[in-house]
Amino acid sequence: MNKRVIGLALSAATLLCFGVQSQAQPQRAPQSAALPDRPWLNRALSPEARARAAVAAMTLDEKLRLVFGYSDQAYTDLAKVSDDIVSPELKAYVVSHQVKGSAGFVPGIPRLGIPDQTQTDASIGVRNSLIPSTALPSSLATAASFDPEVPRAGGAMIGAEARATGHNTMLSGGVNLAREPRNGRNFEYAGEDPLLAGTMVGALIDGIQSNQIISTIKHYAVNDQESERTSIDVTISAEAMRESDLLAFELAMERGKPGSVMCSYNLVNGRWACENDYLLNKVLKHDWGFKGFVMSDWGAVHSTADAANDGLDQFTGFCCTTDTPWFGPPAMKAALTAGEIPESRLDDMAERIVWAMFAKGAVDDPVKPAPIDYAAHAAVSQQAAEDSLVLLKNDGALLPLHAVKSLAVIGGNADKGVLAGGGSSDVTPVGGGTTIDGHTYLPSPPLDALKRELPRARIAFDAGTDPAAAAALASRSDAAIVFVTQPDSEGYDGSLELEGNQDALVAAVAKANPRTIVVVESGGAIFMPWLPQVPAVLEAFYPGIRGGPAIARILTGKVNPSGHLPITFPASRDQLAHRELPGIGLPNETPVHITYDEGAAVGYKWYDAKGFTPLFAFGHGLSYTRFDMSRLAARTDGDALHVSFAIRNAGKREGKGVAQIYVAPADWKKAGWDAPKRLGAFAKAKLKPGQARTFDLIVDPRLLATYEAAGDKWHIHAGDYRLMLGDASDAPMQTVDVSLPEKVWSASHTGD
Ligand code: BGC
Repeated sequence: MNKRVIGLALSAATLLCFGVQSQAQPQRAPQSAALPDRPWLNRALSPEARARAAVAAMTLDEKLRLVFGYSDQAYTDLAKVSDDIVSPELKAYVVSHQVKGSAGFVPGIPRLGIPDQTQTDASIGVRNSLIPSTALPSSLATAASFDPEVPRAGGAMIGAEARATGHNTMLSGGVNLAREPRNGRNFEYAGEDPLLAGTMVGALIDGIQSNQIISTIKHYAVNDQESERTSIDVTISAEAMRESDLLAFELAMERGKPGSVMCSYNLVNGRWACENDYLLNKVLKHDWGFKGFVMSDWGAVHSTADAANDGLDQFTGFCCTTDTPWFGPPAMKAALTAGEIPESRLDDMAERIVWAMFAKGAVDDPVKPAPIDYAAHAAVSQQAAEDSLVLLKNDGALLPLHAVKSLAVIGGNADKGVLAGGGSSDVTPVGGGTTIDGHTYLPSPPLDALKRELPRARIAFDAGTDPAAAAALASRSDAAIVFVTQPDSEGYDGSLELEGNQDALVAAVAKANPRTIVVVESGGAIFMPWLPQVPAVLEAFYPGIRGGPAIARILTGKVNPSGHLPITFPASRDQLAHRELPGIGLPNETPVHITYDEGAAVGYKWYDAKGFTPLFAFGHGLSYTRFDMSRLAARTDGDALHVSFAIRNAGKREGKGVAQIYVAPADWKKAGWDAPKRLGAFAKAKLKPGQARTFDLIVDPRLLATYEAAGDKWHIHAGDYRLMLGDASDAPMQTVDVSLPEKVWSASHTGD
């Protein structure tokens, strides 16, 4: 359906200081003192009033322009579409105004001062085959920072690049839960826990939208595997959904207030996600009071009237010969004439779209090409990586490396760059990437960075193709670092086994040199059959455009690692909630089905409920210093449950400590929970040796409650609850008990 062209990187030199001239015509800035007959341009009015006034001034054809968006293929393929579907004038407009190479385009209404929507993927940076950009670490990586300021700063940076390259809409903010560890897009999301994912993605969106552009949370909802993503029907109860995947969306939307929501390709409980009355009208628009618009994932539309009436506001990504133009002018006009779509619904669709443009600043501060400080942006990405990489194992304090005279660096194309995830989030990196076996390596070779950090060491590289040769090099060196890479991508699900000979390579090197360190560049969890033989492992995820220096600075101790896992690493396939993924290996679009009978027991909750011991637990992460957690106390203040505690750096190096608070009812089954405990709060503190910091946090009541579909209510069951303070979901924890009264409240934000 979506053909992705991995474009050639333009020479960054010409773009370094001046950004890019996009094809988008800079829109005329609306006057602040609006003419009395153009009240929608009056910034003093509310976005609601402005949206209503603007839509009241629109003709039918103008409203219809807003609800039908074009993909990046429009530039070349729109001409093939019949003039009856898209008029010649509109075709000419789209082709001359779209930002060539970007994901999508929705024509504006110049007569009314409503700008075009120029849409670009995605969450690690601006994706455009013709425009180089700065890549953040994957969203899963930045979730590992357990610090919302990391994605917020990253979002502000990529949003600035979007703005400077002529885009006013980012398709960013992936918050599907890592329910399925093999999901090929887990790297685009923020892990398996609703609180962590919602907090981190909310902050990313907030950062992006601080540039007066729209950010799009996605993929709504339970699009938790890629195999047969366009034909899979997911069965899940309303209760489980509201306590897991939908809670992640709800929390992220409260924090980030995105202007738009992208509905997903799959079906949920028998209805397409993009024509799903429950998900779109009931939960999103009614219960959560969402005022913005729902755009489809690219081409994920299957009808005209049903989709419109069930809550879709904009068909996005049309082009040109494969999609049915469900929301094109002829189909919409026919449905309106037949009374299948009320006119008021079309007005609502248009109002929601322009509401987002007014509310987020896209009308008042039109985007225009501007210089980009790529060096400063790369520093943001490096900081994000340094805050996020997770030290999984460090036996005998092998790391940080010191006094190494000779070092063997092996495998993972560590001489070329660091791996990035594939699909619609894969950017064209500044400085030019390297494509190896179809995968993008960002121009940040760890080998070069290690040489810079260890100028006195003899460092030799072996590509790792022949384990015996690599082992021979390792045996002649003081220490060995093996880089392993696990490519993941949109459109297919990965494997937990490392590809090719990499497991054998690690085993051979570890046997040859007991001082072997493994650096993992992966989209998510992998199996590590060699773990007992390897003293140190650093999980680098996809670490972004400055991944090399971040890895080298952590390995050599310039940076103290502080990331904690946002996902569980399974020990074996037997531990997975779904041993087999439906659809793997079947032709595209084969109807398949999955029942999420694990309910809300996603990730560590599943492991806890089953009593499984994973390879590495959610929340796990080591440091070169030691943190004491103490003074755990709980108190209720009105309706709010407060938890307070202190983190102290009890070691000898400065570092950042992560405290995790888990909550558990005395009897989780009786309380109606799907698992024994939930993450209730978390905090990160940068501390010098001996320094301490105290926190007083509120546990969101939804994390203490169950959702009841009958009555649409959240319900805290009266009883004793235990609060646990630790630095991993499986670590020994301090506890305090608190008694909570029964509480029931509406799940609708307006209470009706
Ligand atoms: C992806 C979306 C993306 C869109 C536009 C789709 O295939 O699922 O995440 O935003 O394409 O590129």
